[in-house]
Amino acid sequence: MMKPRKIKEGIYWVGAVDWDRRLFDDLIPLPDGTSYNAYLIQGSEKTALIDTVDPTTSHVLLDRLDQLNVERIDYVIANHAEKDHSGTLPQVLERYPAAQVVCTPKCKGMLVDMLLAPEDRILAVDDGATLSLGDRTLEFIHAPWVHWPETMLTYLREDKILFPCDFFGSHLATTDLYVTDEGRVYEAAKRYYAEIMMPFRKIIQKNLKKVQGYDISLIAPSHGPMYDRPEFILEAYHDWVFGEPKNIVVLPYISMHGSTRVMVNYLVDALVEKGVTVEQFNLAVTDIGKLAMALVDAATIVIGSPTVLTGAHPNVVYAAYLANALRPKTKFVSIIGSYGWGGKMVQQLAGMISNLKVEVLDPVVIQGHPRDEDFAALDKLAATIAEKHKALK
Ligand code: FEO
Repeated sequence: MMKPRKIKEGIYWVGAVDWDRRLFDDLIPLPDGTSYNAYLIQGSEKTALIDTVDPTTSHVLLDRLDQLNVERIDYVIANHAEKDHSGTLPQVLERYPAAQVVCTPKCKGMLVDMLLAPEDRILAVDDGATLSLGDRTLEFIHAPWVHWPETMLTYLREDKILFPCDFFGSHLATTDLYVTDEGRVYEAAKRYYAEIMMPFRKIIQKNLKKVQGYDISLIAPSHGPMYDRPEFILEAYHDWVFGEPKNIVVLPYISMHGSTRVMVNYLVDALVEKGVTVEQFNLAVTDIGKLAMALVDAATIVIGSPTVLTGAHPNVVYAAYLANALRPKTKFVSIIGSYGWGGKMVQQLAGMISNLKVEVLDPVVIQGHPRDEDFAALDKLAATIAEKHKALK
């Protein structure tokens, strides 16, 4: 028996906490599990359900609705077509035959394509459209590319609650309905931003400005706890999307026989001596979510790799691909590493990061174990990075 959780009279959290999930999209690590939040809003005349839950947890949502004795749902608001929020729509529509799905025009097409949802039960709404539940009013705010093209946010006017779906979310399984530990949620929300939202940073800037025009007392996202101090997450997002990159080098690397590791260690020491913070990641063991988080603020990425079959190590290729796809606000990139007899690693990696609007600093790629002149080149690279970072402040 799954009990709903009351937010206030007529408004309930009816989602599912997925304590055991460890991977999203077979790609993104979830060290702390996640939740799929759905919310029931009862007006004096109509009842709306905001989003549904991942199809693996359908029974949880339906059980919570049963506990509330919900006999009729008039509207199911689909803020986002991705299945962790829309995947239980078919069951909800079957159980509540009067229910209409409300979403953006683009989302309507996606729900039909992805879920084979019945087109005649989907109501597409324009940006700024409203829907009355009687004494409560829902306003729909189109927010394309947060993080799919069809996304929208829903604002409950009378209660000043924003339901932003993935926007501001965190992959965090918790019994806390509201944020209680801001440090813990900050980490989870930053990881979420880095993995899901950062590629759309420029569009997020616009959507963030749009949201800041609303009077918000509570942000109720689709993952993680709710924010009853909205400025906490709004200020964090403002820093992530608008803030200048910080005096940080992110150094993802692989070393097969030790030469690259010697170079990494030397460069890290040289940078630290010059007052630069370094976050290094051995890609043989690293959590890519941690790497993504580090990229949110870093001014510089230095990639370290040995040469394998004339190119970079496959794990390094993966990291470079990821950094390119995530489009962080990084300003400078360099490459260090070692080769046995030749290769085209520098050209290969430089060609893989074309999305990044960066200045490429002279790489230090050497044959075999580093010698005095190679350490001198690393010292020069560290000095260049430190100078470039000073100019950022
Ligand atoms: Fe939580 Fe984009 O789905």
